[in-house]
Formats: sequence, C-alpha cells, structure tokens
Amino acid sequence: MKILIIGSGGREHALVWKISQSKRVTRIFAAPGNPGMMPLAERIDIKPTSIIELADFAQAEKIDLTVVGPEQPLALGIVDEFNSRNLKIFGPTQKAAMIETSKSFAKEFMRKNNIPTSEFKVFVSAAEALDHFSRAQFPLVVKADGLAAGKGVYICRKKEEAVAAIHEIMLEGKFGKSGERVVVEDFLSGQEMSFMCVCDGRRIFPLATSMDYKKALEGDKGPNTGGMGAISPAPQLSRELFNQIMKSIIQPTVAGLKFENKEFKGLLYAGLMITRDGPQVLEFNARFGDPESQVVLMRLKSDLVDILEGAADENLFEVAADWDEGVAGCVVLAAKGYPQKYSSGHSIRGLERAKSLGVEVFHAGTELAADGLVTAGGRVLNVCATGPSLKEAMAKVYDGISFITFDEMIFRRDIGWSRK
Ligand code: GLY
Repeated sequence: MKILIIGSGGREHALVWKISQSKRVTRIFAAPGNPGMMPLAERIDIKPTSIIELADFAQAEKIDLTVVGPEQPLALGIVDEFNSRNLKIFGPTQKAAMIETSKSFAKEFMRKNNIPTSEFKVFVSAAEALDHFSRAQFPLVVKADGLAAGKGVYICRKKEEAVAAIHEIMLEGKFGKSGERVVVEDFLSGQEMSFMCVCDGRRIFPLATSMDYKKALEGDKGPNTGGMGAISPAPQLSRELFNQIMKSIIQPTVAGLKFENKEFKGLLYAGLMITRDGPQVLEFNARFGDPESQVVLMRLKSDLVDILEGAADENLFEVAADWDEGVAGCVVLAAKGYPQKYSSGHSIRGLERAKSLGVEVFHAGTELAADGLVTAGGRVLNVCATGPSLKEAMAKVYDGISFITFDEMIFRRDIGWSRK
C-alpha cells in the first residue's frame, strides 16, 4: 500500500513511524513532513491547506490511503474533495469536522443531545459579551468560535481578563473570522483526560486514554500551549469511568452527528474534565491530538493501517487492537518564548545518543540546514519512551533528554508528576 500523511508535526512523525511498521505498507509520503520522518517517508513539497494539489498528487501517485494530521485541511473540506474523486482518506468531512471548527456548534450540539458540558452563552456582538460580564460569576472561559491554532481559549479569573479577551478576539480581530463569534462558558475544575476514538460513521473504536500538559511552565503555570508533554494511560481511568464516558459522551456524539447527516469518520478526540459530577466535555477535536498521539501510538501493538482503513471503509467491526500494558510518556522540547515569540535556526545535537537509550524522538519544528539539523518551530522535538510504570517511562524520557541540546531549549521537568 502507498500512504500519504498530511502535516509536519510530532503527531504526523508518530503516525509515519507507526504506519511504517505495517507489513502492508510499501511506501509513505508526507506533505510536507519533517526531516525526522526520513528515510521512513518521502517528503512532498505541498502545504496541508493546498487541498486540490494534495488530491492531484494522491490521484497521480495512486495513493491507497491518505491520513490527515492537522485540522486546517479538514476545515477546508479535504475529505469532501478526496471523496468526490473516489480517493480513500481518513478524516471527517467539512460538515462533521464542525465539532472542532465551530465551538458554538459543538456546544449547541452537546446541549441538544444531553452530552455533559459546562453552561454557556454564544455572542456575536462584543458589546453584549461585555455587558454579560457585569452579571457573570468568575472564573469563566472565553473561546473564539473558530480555529485559532490552540490559542483561542482564555481562562478568565476576573472580569478585567474577560474584557481583555473580548478586546483581543472580537475588537482587535486577533483570530480573524474565527473570532467573529465567541463562546463564554462556566469554568470546570477536576482532572483533564484526552479520550480519542476512531469512528467509521457509526461504530466506535476507542484508543488508549492519555493526558496532556497544556501549560507552558512547571506546576501547570503560564500560558496555554498546544501541549508540553503527555502520558498514556490517563492516571485516573477506571473501567467504570471508561464505560461512563462511552455511554454519556462518545456514543451520543457519534449517534447525534449521524442523525444530523454529519456522519463522523475519522478520529474523534474528546478533551474531558473529570469533575466531581462525572466526566464533562471541554472540547472536541476532529483529528489526532498532539502530543497525545505520540504516547498512544507508542503503546499500540496492532497494525494502525487496519484501524484507519477500517474507519475509511466503514468496517471497523473487523479490527481489534492490542496495547502495551505499560505506560508511555512524552516531553516536548520547545524554543524559549513558545507559545509566544521565539527564535529558530539553532543547531540540534545529541539525538543519536538519546535514541541509543531506547527513546523515540519525534520531530515537530525542525529543518535540515547546510550544517545539519536546526530548530524551526515553537515545539521542536518530542522525546518519548515506554516503561512498565510511569516512573520508569519518565526516567527514560528524561535520561534521553539529557543528551539533547540546542540554544534556548526549554522543557517541563514535571511531566508525569504534576496534578492539576
Ligand atoms: N494536545 C491538545 C490537542 O491536540 O488539541
């Protein structure tokens, strides 16, 4: 089989790594990919948002299955384009991806389907949102409605912070059209969990659970990021909680989307808060989590291609998965300043020595320069390992990190330990 992976981050590198282990796969392309994927994948110079070019490439190369990593191509309708050309692709249609691409759609959908989530209001006028804050209880959460590269969520402890959020999102237009509408919702506290399932429109194939660490700094302080690390399984998972999540959240979501003619085929990611009243949805994503996928895929022993193809072919009932019983951990090495301004182009050293300890290093923001590998993004590398316990997995990850250097490298030293 020939596979095309769309995207260039750590999640996509982990997908390439796992897919390359399939006996069914002969060739993998990545558009645009990253240097860490070589020689497992051939890099193609097409942007994830150039959906017509990607479909032309898949058609010309006779790609058997395309796997979409990031959300932007889903929002642009890449799956609809591939479907119209009879090209097999893993991911939801533009309509189904609205569960991620419109926060107000997702919240109203949850309200209609009795899916547990916090109370909320939707505003299309800044004046009305600001007026609401004079009567609201704090803390609360302000969210840009559309895609905002993980930066559109503001946790506001007091009124001034919520007012500043509305200024940025609606009045200054920080996220463009994505900020023309906002969701204002109650703040939830508890333990976070990421629950990812592969869906074929009707059937649900739950993957191993995970938890990511969204805050930039140790002790869960500082601004939100795309994720500074992850572990799998989520520490608080019990069989009872798993059943509750499936019954109260995942099953009604998949059934409700099908009822609305938005059959969800692809990866459904539920970002959950496990509260004293049970699991509640913080957000849905329509694609693999990053860095959660890195740790989940490290634990998958079965052929990922069978699972992804099962979803695309609507026959998920034929697949099964076998998981490593241990724990996987991942720590993100980032550039100082991330998630705000940071510099790039710094030489990266020590990867081979780190890998000799048995860790996997998935690239996120790297490029090949004339004199070797250099940094080229906010999140630069993901250092991942498995072990029989969380302690052993994390010790291996941090041993691996001790060999890696680049100027202005930052990372959290408490992944796996801190509790929110
Ligand atoms: N790590 C959170 C996300 O992928 O959206």
